[in-house]
Order: sequence, then structure tokens, then C-alpha cells
Amino acid sequence: MSVSEPPTTDSGSPGRLPAPDRLRRTDTRLDNYVDRYAARTHGMTASAIRALFAVANRPEVVSLAGGMPNITDLPLDVVGSVLNELVVEHGRQAMQYGSGQGEPAIREQICEVMRLEGISAHPDDVTVTVGSQQALDLVTRIFCDPGDVVLCEAPSYVGALGVFRAYQTQVVHVAMDEQGLDPVALAEAIEAVRRTGRTAKFLYTIPNFHNPAGVTQTLERRIEILRVAEQADLLVVEDNPYGLLGFDGDPTPAMRSLDADRVVYLGSFSKTFAPGFRVGWALAPHAVREKLVLAQESATLCPPVFSQFAVSAYLAGHDWRGQIKVFREMYRERRDAMITGLTEHMPAGSTWTEPKGGFFVWLQLPPGLDAQAMLPRAVTARVAYVPGTAFFSDGFGTRFMRLSYCFPTPARILEGTRRLGEVLAYEASVNETFGMTALGDGRDRVIHPYEAPGADMS
Ligand SMILES: Cc1ncc(COP(=O)(O)O)c(C=O)c1O
Repeated sequence: MSVSEPPTTDSGSPGRLPAPDRLRRTDTRLDNYVDRYAARTHGMTASAIRALFAVANRPEVVSLAGGMPNITDLPLDVVGSVLNELVVEHGRQAMQYGSGQGEPAIREQICEVMRLEGISAHPDDVTVTVGSQQALDLVTRIFCDPGDVVLCEAPSYVGALGVFRAYQTQVVHVAMDEQGLDPVALAEAIEAVRRTGRTAKFLYTIPNFHNPAGVTQTLERRIEILRVAEQADLLVVEDNPYGLLGFDGDPTPAMRSLDADRVVYLGSFSKTFAPGFRVGWALAPHAVREKLVLAQESATLCPPVFSQFAVSAYLAGHDWRGQIKVFREMYRERRDAMITGLTEHMPAGSTWTEPKGGFFVWLQLPPGLDAQAMLPRAVTARVAYVPGTAFFSDGFGTRFMRLSYCFPTPARILEGTRRLGEVLAYEASVNETFGMTALGDGRDRVIHPYEAPGADMS
């Protein structure tokens, strides 16, 4: 793990714009405003996933890249009649401005949804947001100044890393293993940050069916992580969009259910209903909730009322629990196809996680292979994935890739893994020709211990 001094801009001092003669590679003189952007815009770059979408979406390419929820099974006739009734009976209210905190009815329903993961909460402590993505933005906005440290898993959700970068924070990654975030590594990271004279603002963690790692924290792990957080008086941001999409048994109790005062919990209807409504939420201790509402009001005045009414009417009038079961079975079938395909087609020395829910598998390549360098060859072979480096803030991850099984059919997933296997076999044979071993050393774990490039604990 590397903890350095607070970042400065190109001009060498915090908060100043880069000198005009030192433009970034992506800046252009064709942009008349190039010298005027705020320093924070320099952290805003298109994600690797966005850049990939254009090619990955071609029909001949099997895309194991995007993480779009698969809403093929959503009953559009039901949703259509819910929306129709909404407009006819409550249209004037649904199309008005509303509360900055979100509509009371949906906040109550959100508490009911969260009960499924052991959370007992009051609707007053819920703030509705534009997807959980906006909740991440608001939480970072109210807690982080430029240069502040945020702890997050290694790897972590690319959309969260984008927010942390936009607010000019310093991300410190914490190692995970097959049971999720490693509490010992967390305690070490907290200490390493402290030695630089700073205190991490919060820990950002995805305990269930991690994006991109595909692993889930055990209950014991959650308890241990919260114990470490308590000792360090560290706030925990628990991001849980996939929690109800588990393939076996009941959900593991949410971290928020174990420590209500230390955890800001983020939830979403994007994966359990549909992402297009953009309805998510933050459940926060009371004082934090007040700040979130103020931040929400300045960002949007109020979250979209029509969307909230629509989701609320769907929850009230439709068997949403039954629909989640349908989604789960559909994703389970795809997970099974992915694991079968990987078992059949991956070369020796590859390892991967076996998710028990959610959308993603995290694949470690045999030594010597580089997922980023290989991507153009893979797309030429008509298969796409996201290279591991997208999920780290520091360039780590070249030997990893994220494979999504949520969207393609099982047959396409099998075909995609077959194509990927061919690409890997070819790359490995090239490496062998140049004398690099393509076989693992027998010590490889599914999740490779994270070591920051040029690890510097000072
Ligand atoms: C871990 C994680 N958090 C948050 C989000 C944002 O979801 P939304 O804004 O649609 O609720 C996603 C979306 O893929 C995600 O994977």
C-alpha cells in the first residue's frame, strides 16, 4: 500500500490550474475554455468501460464487459399499467417538485426492503438519491476535501473510484481475499495513513457479490471489519446494490444492521427492479442525513418525483419479491454457464472467483499475461472484458480482468469463454516462445494479494 503526500496539480500547488503550456494529453487547444476548468475536472476521465462500450456492443462481439442489469424478464405490461394508473390518478403530484429528502411513501417502502437484510431503520433517516451513484457522490461531497484519504477494497467499483477522483481524494486500496476485505490489511492501512499525519475519511466497501471481485464478506468478517473501524473511529460506507441477488440461502446481515451509528448504507432499485428510474438511497445516522439532504437540495432540488412515484407504485402493486426470485434464477443460470465455460477453456495457471450472487467473476491470468495489452486482440477475436487496471487507482491489476455474466445468454457466455480461452492460449504460447513461463507457481490464490506498485509505507 502506498500513502503519499496530498496530491498537487500540475502547477505544483494544491487547487491551482495547470499552466497553459502543460496541457494534459486529453486537453485540446480546440477547446476555448481549456485554461479555465476547475482543478477537479482534471481527475475526470472517461472510464475504461465507457470507452469499451462502442466496440463491445457490436452484435458479433460477445461482451463480458458491461454490467448492465438484464431486465428481459421484467413484465412490461405490468409496469405499463402501473405507470398509466400513476399518471391518470396522481399525475399532478407525480409531475411536481417534491421533498429534497425524497417522498415519504417510498422512504417507508425502502425501510421494508432493507428489513430483508436485517436492517431496522426509520424513514426519517433515508435520503432518496438518483441511483446509488448519486448517493456516493453526495457522501463524498459532504465528507471529503481535496487530498483527503478514502480507503477502499483492492479492487473496487470503477464508478466509486471516478467519484473519489473527481473530488480529488487520495484512494488507498486495502487487500481482499476470498472472504472479502481483509481486516488485518485494513488495520495496517489505517495505521499507514495515520503515520502520514492524516486520518482516512471513510472506508468504502461492497460486502455482497463484490463488483468486480465477485466475493462476499462472511458475517464474521463483517463483525471483524466493524471492530477495526470502531477502534479507529472510522466511518464505513456500505454499498449494497446486489445484496438481494444471492443464489443460495438468506442474505448475510448488512453491516448497517450490526452497527447503525458507524455505517452509511447505500441501496438501489437498479438491480432489483430497473436502472432507468434512477432511484437509489442512502441510510445514514441522523446528523449525516441532514447534511445529505442539504447536499441533495443543492444538487437537484429534489430527486425525480415521477421516478419515485413509479417505483413506489410498482412495489405496492406488484409481487416485487417474486420478481427478484425470477431475476436470481436467471442470473444463476448465467453464472453457471460462466463457470462451466471457464473450467473448460481457461489455460493452466488461471484462477477465478465463483460468485454466489450478483453479476461478476474476477479472473486472474497466468503469470506473464497482461489483460490490458491483450484487449485489442480479444476484441478482434470477438470477445470483450474489462481489464483489471480499471478497478484500481494506482495502475495495479494488469494480470486481472472482470467478466460479467449478467447480460448475454448462457450459450453466448459459453461461446465468449471459448473465444477468450483461445486468445489466452495464443498469448501464453507467444510468452513461452520468448521464454516466459505461462504456468502458475502453485502459490496463486483466487484473489492475488494486493501490493501497490512501488509499495511505500512511509
Ligand atoms: C457497486 C456499485 N455501486 C453503485 C452502483 C450504481 O448503481 P445505481 O446508480 O444504478 O444505483 C453500481 C452500478 O453498477 C455498482 O456496481
